Amino acid sequence: MKTRKIAIDGVASSGKSTIGKILAERLNYEFIDSGFLYRLATLIALEKDLKKGEYSLAVTDFNVDIKDGKIFLDGDEVPLTKLRDKNIDALVSPVSEDSTVREVITKELQRISEEKNVVMVGRDIGSVVLPDAFLKIFLTATLEERASRRFKELILQGVNTTFEEVYENLKMRDIIDSSRSVAPLTIPKDAYVIDTTNLKIDEVITLIMEFIRGKE
Ligand code: C5P
Repeated sequence: MKTRKIAIDGVASSGKSTIGKILAERLNYEFIDSGFLYRLATLIALEKDLKKGEYSLAVTDFNVDIKDGKIFLDGDEVPLTKLRDKNIDALVSPVSEDSTVREVITKELQRISEEKNVVMVGRDIGSVVLPDAFLKIFLTATLEERASRRFKELILQGVNTTFEEVYENLKMRDIIDSSRSVAPLTIPKDAYVIDTTNLKIDEVITLIMEFIRGKE
């Protein structure tokens, strides 16, 4: 079966997951947040106490699956809250720079997208993982706005943090994600770029639905 793929890329906390999830529900597609697989590899790296240069060991026998928004490792569900932990935020970009980690996760994402229609969000979906996607979207927003959104989200989850800490983490991740040598965050040539700084969620969804209709 030829499946339909929608790729949403963008900087950290630009609204990719929120938008992607709503869009997937509207279209009745599977929502795949690729960031969670990089976060899972990072969790394994932390648990195995891996150092720089050893991160590829985190994805040896990486038996993962994503179903109905849930992540499974060796058949067991991994709570998403565990993957959103601050320690993972701090290490996920360095782990994601490892070329073996990227290769293994890219193959898993491609396998999943061959099985069902997907809305997939990440950093390199339109450029590397699904270059033949039906529609490519790239989301941006100012660093201040993104830090403020992420800070509110963390506070609501009861996480003990400060605006400055969140701001600095996003800034650091933007730099590493955009400048790494393997699959850096870039805007695919054929992507629609949406700046979400001053847009409400439903305004972004309406825009994307219009792009989809325009392509049908
Ligand atoms: O999207 P999220 O912020 O959860 O992603 C966490 C990290 O995973 C990013 O900062 C980036 O380093 C990495 N990532 C990536 N490629 C993707 C998705 C995420 O390198 N496709």
